[in-house]
Amino acid sequence: MTVTQPGQSHSLPQGREHVVCTEDEIPPGEHRVFPIGRHGVGVYNVNGVFYAIANYCPHEGGPLCTGRVHGRSVVADHAPGGAGVVRDGEFIYCPWHQWGFELATGTTAVKPEWSIRTYPVKVLDQKVIVTA
Ligand code: FES
Repeated sequence: MTVTQPGQSHSLPQGREHVVCTEDEIPPGEHRVFPIGRHGVGVYNVNGVFYAIANYCPHEGGPLCTGRVHGRSVVADHAPGGAGVVRDGEFIYCPWHQWGFELATGTTAVKPEWSIRTYPVKVLDQKVIVTA
């Protein structure tokens, strides 16, 4: 395993385990970006479940992890404006053109044949470990 510190920059081969932080350093609803690979990897805590994604948008290469985390908009006839939000906190929106991606799967409704890169995350002895 490799211990990766914020601010540390290096390129590593795929498939290595990185101990990125402890579980309590990313509370629910928060995320951190770690210098893994060419663009970095964002680790998100969504209601106690950790997900990791590449800090790279497949549309035009935007810094995806600087985007906002939100839910998905749906038709809600009785809500103001006729729209509501479901699954709050489960989607990341790119800051450049607002494409939304599901953190759990990396998929997008904008162009379903495209997706972002996701990485396995596990928690072991309160340490968050990303395989990337
Ligand atoms: S670069 Fe991300 S939506 Fe365009």
